[in-house]
Amino acid sequence: MNPTRTFCTSTIPPTLSRAVCRGLASQSSRTALRAVYPLGLNAQRQFSTSRRSNIEFFPPAKDTPNIKETRAAWPHPKISEQQLQSIEPFVHRDCQTWSDKVAYGMVKTARWWMDLFSGYRHDETKPYQMTPRKWFVRFIFLETIAAVPGMTAGMLRHFRSLRRMQRDNGWIETMLEDAYNERMHLLTFMKMAEPGWFMKMMIIGAQGVFSNAFFLAYLASPATCHRFVGYLEEEATNTYTLAVQDLDKGHLPEWENLEAPEIAVKYWNMPEGHRTMRDLLLYVRADEAKHREIHHTFGNLDQVHDPNPFVSEYKDKNKPHPSNGWEHLKSQGWERKDII
Ligand SMILES: [Fe+2]
Ligand SMILES: [Fe+2]
Repeated sequence: MNPTRTFCTSTIPPTLSRAVCRGLASQSSRTALRAVYPLGLNAQRQFSTSRRSNIEFFPPAKDTPNIKETRAAWPHPKISEQQLQSIEPFVHRDCQTWSDKVAYGMVKTARWWMDLFSGYRHDETKPYQMTPRKWFVRFIFLETIAAVPGMTAGMLRHFRSLRRMQRDNGWIETMLEDAYNERMHLLTFMKMAEPGWFMKMMIIGAQGVFSNAFFLAYLASPATCHRFVGYLEEEATNTYTLAVQDLDKGHLPEWENLEAPEIAVKYWNMPEGHRTMRDLLLYVRADEAKHREIHHTFGNLDQVHDPNPFVSEYKDKNKPHPSNGWEHLKSQGWERKDII
């Protein structure tokens, strides 16, 4: 096959693809290409297709006569460099009840299947088997699943509020923001790589099963569902930590000079000089750690009567309490007696 032809009809984002075809790609763009095709052009099978229609499904925002810019509904809360670095990975909240054990068992089962379908192999005792492409597969698959619980929980709490004509105490917004944040993770990675047809089919199937199962489970036991998501977010925090560690160990040279896409720079307000792939992974990891805290905390609360502690104003402002940011991040969640 003619290599130039393959290059121009592959799954690279369209603007980049066109730039490369015209020989206009910048150094960072070329680095991005190497990240998508780390093993060369023959390595793209499971994670890309060669149909041009597929690469144009994620075009830039349309220029219209009246609209200047469409801003994010939930701007990302500020996070400092020190807070980014201080995230605690590999933290596990011990199972204290049967419902915790069920939730943790479900996460371990889900993880096993996800490892299988995403081709995830990460064993310190064996030769390194991950590649940038495999990492992107895992990130994209993970984020398509991770954005489901927040929307489902928010929607069901919204319906309950309408049905019972009662207030919700502030949980809905945090759940919707959670879902929005996860979707921004997905959209960011979609700017860097695109799944092929097999992965797309797996994603559709997984969403069909998971969203319906989570919907029913949330109706039956919302506290167990929040615990489930808390454990899921533990796994997500660990995944991004391992990716950063692998990058630091030199396993992923393709990412060493890779720049974060514009969508990420804007969403996280990434400062100048801190816009690399490594920085991006640290931002995403911090978000996952925040979700871990939120869902473990929600799992500890009275689902009907307690206010959302992450958007509440506290009587004693000097005592550490939950917030929308990362000031007093509690990796295992806040206990009810300490905050309500
Ligand atoms: Fe995420
Ligand atoms: Fe998350």
